[in-house]
Amino acid sequence: MKILTVVGARPQFVKAAAVSRVLREKHTEVLVHTGQHYDETMSQVFFRELGIPEPDYNLEVGSAGHAAQTGEMLIRMEPIFEKEKPDWALVYGDTNSTLAGALVASKLHIPVAHVEAGLRSFNREMPEEINRVLTDHVSHLLFCPAQKAADNLKLEGVTSGAHIVGDVMYDAVLRHSEMADKKSTILDSLGLGAKQYLLATVHRAANVDDTVTLLNILETLSLLSETVVFPVHPRTRKAIQAAGFSPGENVNLIEPVGYLDMLRLEKNARMILTDSGGVQKEAYWFGAPCVTLREETEWVETVEAGWNVIVGADRGRILNAVRTFAPPSPRPNLFGDGNASQNIVRLLESETR
Ligand code: UD1
Ligand code: UDP
Repeated sequence: MKILTVVGARPQFVKAAAVSRVLREKHTEVLVHTGQHYDETMSQVFFRELGIPEPDYNLEVGSAGHAAQTGEMLIRMEPIFEKEKPDWALVYGDTNSTLAGALVASKLHIPVAHVEAGLRSFNREMPEEINRVLTDHVSHLLFCPAQKAADNLKLEGVTSGAHIVGDVMYDAVLRHSEMADKKSTILDSLGLGAKQYLLATVHRAANVDDTVTLLNILETLSLLSETVVFPVHPRTRKAIQAAGFSPGENVNLIEPVGYLDMLRLEKNARMILTDSGGVQKEAYWFGAPCVTLREETEWVETVEAGWNVIVGADRGRILNAVRTFAPPSPRPNLFGDGNASQNIVRLLESETR
């Protein structure tokens, strides 16, 4: 079996690392990096720490508006698919790289397999929602992390090819959690101990591109009495710089951290405030209460389990959550048992003609 995997953005490196390791035990993988993320701290560090093989192709599309970025990916990817003739195109999540891979492959009649299928925020103003819906509707195999995602697909009339396999990010967490404890020195270098800080990440367009919203979040964090460790996504860094904003002394804006440092920070945070999809789930797996800085989430299971609270970018709701949010103790396995990658490879094998 020959699989052409398309990745491009930070969370996709984490997801693909888990599946790639299992896939390459028996099969051929051609790895295409679109170049959507390209900084050392947004790309290479993940390849190094997660042992991902060098990409066979790097399209080097870089940053641009949605049309230019996605369009360049389509143009540069098509000849690669034509040359490689894979049995499957394997795409992850909901970024522009996901949609580009799915679109090119489906037009060439190459079946598409989508990891993290069926997730919905039901907010079509999110570029990610458009990417997910369109990708799911051209996919032949749809790998859902949990039941709700499969239900969402059914509601849209996608009835064949969907399988609940668990979450590949959980596979990655299980594999790297101990390694993070052994290798990461981030807490020492920040002079922090367990539960002595809050961890924050913000990068969604809705929070970053509107300066009033972004500054409201940062000003709110600055009002807190606790230290806030805030690894800053480059998109957010640029917006903060453009606004000329300096946060309070308790807010430590640092460069984006590598995966192992991030896991260590998540495991030891008293609480996590985030608009990231992946970080909401990692918070759950590590038992860190999560405050989601959005008005909705795709990961509703974590909210229903009582470990995630939705507060948007509203100052009063954020402050209230930081001061009072106390999840219950049980944390059932919501997203599988850590074998999502094996399940995915098995299904790819059985569905290959
Ligand atoms: C993208 C995904 C988002 C995902 C996120 C993960 C889309 C539409 N969005 O958002 O779903 O959650 O990745 O992190 O695909 N930049 C750099 N260096 C880099 C990468 C980006 O400086 O290595 C800056 C550029 O100014 C760029 C901006 O960040 O314009 C945004 O990057 P882009 O990849 O377009 O979107 P993300 O916000 O990263
Ligand atoms: N992450 C990281 N360093 C950081 C921020 C995030 O390693 O500074 C990891 C995080 O642990 C998770 C993934 O990147 O595995 C999530 O990516 P991101 O928040 O950029 O995207 P999303 O999940 O929202 O699409």
